[in-house]
Amino acid sequence: MKRKLKSNVDWVGKIDWELTHFHGNEYSTHRGSSYNSYLVKEEKVVLIDTVWAPFAKEFVDNLSKEIELSRIDYIVANHSEVDHSGALPELMKQIPDVPIYCTANGEKVLRGHYHKDWNFQIVKTGDTLDIGNGKQLVFIEAPMLHWPDSMFTYLTGDNILFSNDAFGQHYASEYLFNDLVDQDELYSESIKYYANILTPFSPLITKKINEVLSLEVPVDMIATSHGVIWRDDPTQIVKKYLEWANSYQENRITIVYDTMWEGTRKIAEAISKGIQKADPDVDVRLFNSAKRDKNDIITEIFRSKAILLGSPTINKGILSSMASLIEEMKGLRFKAKKGAAFGPYGWSGESVSILNKALEDSGFELVNAGLKTLWEPDDAILQEAERFGKDFAGRIS
Ligand code: FEO
Repeated sequence: MKRKLKSNVDWVGKIDWELTHFHGNEYSTHRGSSYNSYLVKEEKVVLIDTVWAPFAKEFVDNLSKEIELSRIDYIVANHSEVDHSGALPELMKQIPDVPIYCTANGEKVLRGHYHKDWNFQIVKTGDTLDIGNGKQLVFIEAPMLHWPDSMFTYLTGDNILFSNDAFGQHYASEYLFNDLVDQDELYSESIKYYANILTPFSPLITKKINEVLSLEVPVDMIATSHGVIWRDDPTQIVKKYLEWANSYQENRITIVYDTMWEGTRKIAEAISKGIQKADPDVDVRLFNSAKRDKNDIITEIFRSKAILLGSPTINKGILSSMASLIEEMKGLRFKAKKGAAFGPYGWSGESVSILNKALEDSGFELVNAGLKTLWEPDDAILQEAERFGKDFAGRIS
C-alpha cells in the first residue's frame, strides 16, 4: 500500500508492531512504534531520515522498489540517534557518494556511531537546499531537542515540517495521519513521550517553538519520526507542547510506594483517604512501583501537582523499585511540583530522609519532614497517616 503525505512526498519508514521497549529497556511502548522516513520527489530526490538497524535491509529493499537508489540526490539526517540513522550503513553501501545533510553535531554523532567517511554536508539554521520546481528545504537547528545534533527540516511549497522526534509518539498504526486514529490513544502516547523524554528540555522547547512560530511560515503538516503525522490542525500539538513545557500540572496527587509486608501500602491508602477528605475534588492515584510500569508512573507524576513517595527502610536504604524510579525522576527535573515522603521502619529508619533528598534532587518542593512510622501500622498510625494526608492536601494550593 502506498503511503503518501502528498503526491510528491511518500512515507517509506517501518511500523514496529512488536516493539515493547525502546531505548534498551528504558521506555515501555505498549502500542509499538514506527520509524518514519520520507522520500521527497521533486527535480531532486531527497530521503529524510531512515529506520532502526534491525530493519535496515528491509528498508533498503523497499526503498529500491520505490525508486532506483541511484536517483536519490540528497539524504537529510535530522537526528543521528540509531532509530533514525540505523539503516544508513546498509543504504550507503549502495550510494556511497550521496551527500548527507546534517548539523555539525550530527556529523560527529554519525561518525561516532558508524566510523564512516561519508559525504557530510553541514547545515545551520536558515540554510536552504534547492530541490527544483521552485521548492526548497530549509534547515532549523534544534539542539537538545532532544540531542545536541537534532534539527528540523521545512519543505517550502508543501509546507511540511519534518520535526523528527519532536511532536512524535511511540504509537504503531497503519493509519498515517492524526485525524484517522483514536484520539485518546494518540494523546496518551504523546504526553507519555513528552513526560518521559522531553521534560528536561522544556525551557528549550518553549524557546524553539516561539522561534519557529515567529517565522510565520504556513505549516500544513508536521511529519514526525515516530507515530502519526499531524495534518488535521497540526498546530494543536504545538499548543500542547507549549502547555506541557510550562510547568504543566493537573489537579492530581500521585502516591508512589513499594511495600514488603503491606505496611507501606496501608499507610499510602490512609494518606490518600486524608487527602480526599480534605479535598474531594483532587484526583488521587496510587501506584506500587514494583508492580506498575515505570514510564506510566512518570507520566502520572508529570500530570500531578504534587506527589508522595513511600518505602520501608531496608538495609539502611529503600526498596529497589523506588530507587529505580527516583533515578529516572532526577534526570527529568520536574518543575513547580510539591512532594513529601513516608515510610515505616523497624530499627534504623533511613527511608524517609532518603526519599526527601530524592524529591529535592528531582526538583520538588518538600512540604514537610515526612511521615516516619515504627513497625506495622496499627489504627493509631493509620489515623496519623490520614491526618498527614489532610495536612498535605492543605499545603498544596
Ligand atoms: Fe527517535 Fe532521539 O530518536
